[in-house]
Amino acid sequence: MTSTAATAYQSALDRPDWDFVEFYVGNAKQAAHFYRTAFGFDQIAYAGPETGLRDRVSYVLEQNRLRFVITSPLQPDHEIARHVNLHGDGVRDVALAVGDAGAAFALAVERGARPVRVPQTLHDEFGSAVLASVATYGDTVHTFVERNAYRGPFLPGFIAQRTASNAQQHPALHHIDHCVGNVGWNEMDTWAEYYARVFNFTQLVSFDDKDISTEYTALKSKVMSDARHAVKFPINEPARGLRKSQIEEYLDFYRGPGVQHLALHTSDIVATIRALRANGVEFLEAPDAYYEQLSERVGKIDEALSVLRELRILVDRDDRGYMLQLFTKPLQDRPTLFFEIIQRKGSLSFGKGNFKALFVAIEQEQARRGTL
Ligand code: FE2
Repeated sequence: MTSTAATAYQSALDRPDWDFVEFYVGNAKQAAHFYRTAFGFDQIAYAGPETGLRDRVSYVLEQNRLRFVITSPLQPDHEIARHVNLHGDGVRDVALAVGDAGAAFALAVERGARPVRVPQTLHDEFGSAVLASVATYGDTVHTFVERNAYRGPFLPGFIAQRTASNAQQHPALHHIDHCVGNVGWNEMDTWAEYYARVFNFTQLVSFDDKDISTEYTALKSKVMSDARHAVKFPINEPARGLRKSQIEEYLDFYRGPGVQHLALHTSDIVATIRALRANGVEFLEAPDAYYEQLSERVGKIDEALSVLRELRILVDRDDRGYMLQLFTKPLQDRPTLFFEIIQRKGSLSFGKGNFKALFVAIEQEQARRGTL
């Protein structure tokens, strides 16, 4: 290897970006309809029996820079069927765009990542793309996507199939802000260290159980980020409380570690939450008391307090600015994956000041399910 090639190799993971998130679900046709109708995604591409795939079907959904792939198995004895059987509907792949997927894969494996798919070059009439995957927590994987030489609708093997969103009102969801993983008891440091070692990420913040606890439930969290703060992976583990931690509930229902939530960024959270609520999306509801203390806690903000209270939007502040956020209820029957809708106004925070208010709301939900 020449020294220039060696340098390029060593920096193969330096500037990752989000590419797509693939969900494995029981009924992709219906799930894709839900994300189009409720969350305002357009369908842009498709792969299935009509395109020569015998074992699976995938719908590709897009909204601004967000790209979701919704996949179901067509056969019972299949890796995807086993995934759905064990975990329920959930995130299988958090794919990252890189300049050289082969080098990114080789470097990640050299640094200790478990290989899942060796680099594979796929071609069709729109060009070629290279994919390679490594394992992360649980059954979750990161696929490296190199698509500089590809001009098609999504990736080779998918046909363009455009169905505009049929949402009644259109939210303005733009890109992934962060993707949170739940891991087992005392595993947070192992996985934070994995992102530091394999991806060269650094720790942005950490929270311990004193920050994130209520009378009943507790968790610990470390936020790992790339140097540009483009890709952020918070890692949660449960902590001891009087009752079962919400992370433990997730681990029980998902049968192990996995993606807990995707935070979707919007530049207009008020209009977006209004649209999502009109489309039937359900959110966690902060108690009234939260809004009585809000002005005192976060100071002056641009949004009217009455509107935030009406839409149940949460606010938090750090030394750089403030952020607004709201969490959906689980997106499937098992209380596992959910979305966060987030707007940042300078703040790099993850809503530490909201955890208490939020946990009270989550506990009300847990109590209704009888798992508190
Ligand atoms: Fe979050």
